Amino acid sequence: MTHNILIIKGDGIGPEVVEAARLVLENLNLDFHFEEARAGYACYQAVGDPIPQATIEAARRAEATLFGAVTTPPDIPKYRSAVVTLRKELDLYANLRPVHSLGLKGAHYRDNLDLYVVRENTEGLYSGQEEVDGDTAIAKRIITKKGSERIVRYAFELAKRTGKRKVTVVHKANVLRLTDGLFRRTALGVAAEYQPDGIEVQELLVDTMAMRLIKDPENFEVIVTTNLFGDILSDEASELVGGLGVAASGNIGVNGAIFEPVHGSAPDIAGKGIANPLATILTTVMLLQHIQEPAAAERLQKAVAKVIAEGTVTPDLGGTANTMQVRDRVIELLS
Ligand code: NAI
Ligand code: MG
Repeated sequence: MTHNILIIKGDGIGPEVVEAARLVLENLNLDFHFEEARAGYACYQAVGDPIPQATIEAARRAEATLFGAVTTPPDIPKYRSAVVTLRKELDLYANLRPVHSLGLKGAHYRDNLDLYVVRENTEGLYSGQEEVDGDTAIAKRIITKKGSERIVRYAFELAKRTGKRKVTVVHKANVLRLTDGLFRRTALGVAAEYQPDGIEVQELLVDTMAMRLIKDPENFEVIVTTNLFGDILSDEASELVGGLGVAASGNIGVNGAIFEPVHGSAPDIAGKGIANPLATILTTVMLLQHIQEPAAAERLQKAVAKVIAEGTVTPDLGGTANTMQVRDRVIELLS
């Protein structure tokens, strides 16, 4: 079966890491058809739009999209962030971040952490509804039953699929009584449906969760929460196993799926050939799982583990390899 994959390289190191990951994909002996579309700041400078409609349509058509990183200039009024727009347009409601130990020297959890953070990706405090009234600025925190139900269901289905036994629902319902009250009630309702599967539900307040992620992260398997809390907790969690150079994510929804490394366009190292491609390569592992190619995903995951174990890594991970050397070594180890 041919897999139609859209490639969006973006700005800065985006093209460098996505090219590396694409070459890795091409060496897996699967049948891919790649299409490319533009987004980001360079695209804005060229055509006046950081996220052209044609790109949105291409992402909607594709089986999955591999997205690099874009530069988002803070000072252009009405500038739309490419990735935030894509999440909204395609209704990519689940933001998935695996937090798996990779054997990295220097990581806080070198080898015994294996959890997922599932973040609601379309509503909450990032609904984009802000207003100013004199000296007061207000952001609306929108929580819906539908939005809560589908993200919590996604978390439980993920637990079922990956053999996890516990889902932790994170909220602040003691203070945000209406919004997180609704999220919490809905979550516990969904959880009840999964009791026969033997998946335990736990609830924690977000501040306690932030503390426990440092104190005893091994006690968590799947964490599910609202948009802003998930944004913060997922960055915190990624640091436990090695940080930005290896942090992968997926935006999964009704009308598509976009996989992207967590890092940005890294203008400070762009063009130097030293960007770490592993975050994007691990992102393609998630993409392979999504398109139902679990064997290829596992092969690639193992090749990355070997590259890390033998120390063929870029300077951000303490190594001396460049982007292409890491890429080529991953490809060698695949065969
Ligand atoms: P950043 O993630 O681009 O860089 C932070 C630091 O980590 C830099 O020192 C960078 O060199 C390093 N770094 C990041 N990725 C790396 C890699 N693969 N290998 C080696 N080192 C790496 O975040 P920053 O500097 O705050 O933002 C730069 C631009 O990226 C901004 O315009 C921002 O808006 C955008 N951005 C885009 C994102 C996206 O496309 N999803 C996410 C985050 C930021
Ligand atoms: Mg973030």
